[in-house]
Amino acid sequence: MDQLAPCSIESLRNAANHLRKGALVAFPTETVYGLAVDAENESAVARMYQVKGRPANHPVIVHIADQNQVGYWAEEIPDYAIALMHKFWPGPMTLILKRSERAKDFVTGGQDYVGLRIPANPIALKLLSEFESLGGHGVAAPSANRFGSVSPTSAGDVKEEIGELLGPEDLILDGGASEVGVESTIIDCSRALPRILRLGAVTEAMIESITPIDSDSDLEEIRVSGSLTRHYSPRAKVVIDREAKSGEGLIALSEVMTPAGVIRLSSPNSIEEYARLLYSALRKGDSQGLKVVVVIPPRGEGLAAAIRDRIMRASAH
Ligand code: TXA
Ligand code: MG
Repeated sequence: MDQLAPCSIESLRNAANHLRKGALVAFPTETVYGLAVDAENESAVARMYQVKGRPANHPVIVHIADQNQVGYWAEEIPDYAIALMHKFWPGPMTLILKRSERAKDFVTGGQDYVGLRIPANPIALKLLSEFESLGGHGVAAPSANRFGSVSPTSAGDVKEEIGELLGPEDLILDGGASEVGVESTIIDCSRALPRILRLGAVTEAMIESITPIDSDSDLEEIRVSGSLTRHYSPRAKVVIDREAKSGEGLIALSEVMTPAGVIRLSSPNSIEEYARLLYSALRKGDSQGLKVVVVIPPRGEGLAAAIRDRIMRASAH
C-alpha cells in the first residue's frame, strides 16, 4: 500500500484509476474519512466489508460527484428530497431514496432504498469527478474504521484503524483533519415526509427551513447500522456528565476546569470545535491507555444534539 499519499490532481486521477480497477481508497470527506470502492464492483465491496469487519447485510452510502448521477441510482424522488439536495449538497447530508435497478443488493443490504451523498470536501469531489470521467458512477464508502469503533478524522487515524489490512493496490489519501468531525445527517426520503435517521451538521432546524419533518420515530423497517446501540466506541469506558477523577480523561468545553490529576483530552471553544475534536480526543484517550474518559456533553440543539448522540453511543457498553 502506498500509505498516506498526498493529494495532487495527478494522485487523485491515479486513485480514481485504482478504484476503477477494484482497489480500496480511503479518502477525506468534510465529515469523517471514508473507505471507498467502486459501488458497482461486487468483489471490491465484499473486500471493503471484510477490511471493516462489518456484517455484509448492512447498507453503505454511495457517494456521487454531482446531482446528475442521482437518477442513475435512485427513482421516484420526492420533491422535498430534490429541495434538500439543492440546498445542502455538496455537504454533510445523506438521503435514503428508492433505488433504481443499478443499486444492487450488495450496496443496499438487500433493501429497496439506496443512500446517496455528495460530499463537500474538495479532494473528495475531485476524486469522485475523476472516477466519473473514467466511466464510474459512484463510490460506496462507509466510515474508514473497523466495525463498531470510532470514525477516523485524519489519514493517520485511518492508517491506525485499517492500515495493516490494506493490500498493495489500496491507498489512503491524506486531506488533513476533517472539518465537521461527525458523520453526515441521514434523512429517510421513502415517505411523504422526511425522517431524520442520524443527526449531523445539517440540523433539524436547517431541514425544517426547507420541508416539514415527520417526527415519527419508529425506525424499525430501515436498518441503520449507525443506530446499533454500541457503536462509535473507544476502548476506554466513556462516562457522561460527572466530575472527572485523577487518572481519568476529560472531554468538555473550554469553560469546564480540569480537576487535579485529570488528563484533558480536548477543550473546544465552540460546538463546531467540539464536533471536530471529539473522535480524535477519544482516540487520544485510548492511545494513552486510559481506562475511563469523562465527557461533559454540550447543551443545545443542532450540532450539539448530534454530538450528544455520538457521546451516548460511545458510552453504551
Ligand atoms: O459522513 C458520512 O456519512 C460518512 C462519510 C464517509 O460519507 N459515512 C458513513 O458511513 O458514516 P457509515 O457506513 O459508517 O454509516 C452510514 C450509515 C450506516 O448506518 C448505514 O446503515 C446507513 O448509513 N445507510 C446507508 N445506506 C442506507 C440505506 N440504503 N438505508 C438505510 N440506511 C442506510
Ligand atoms: Mg461508520
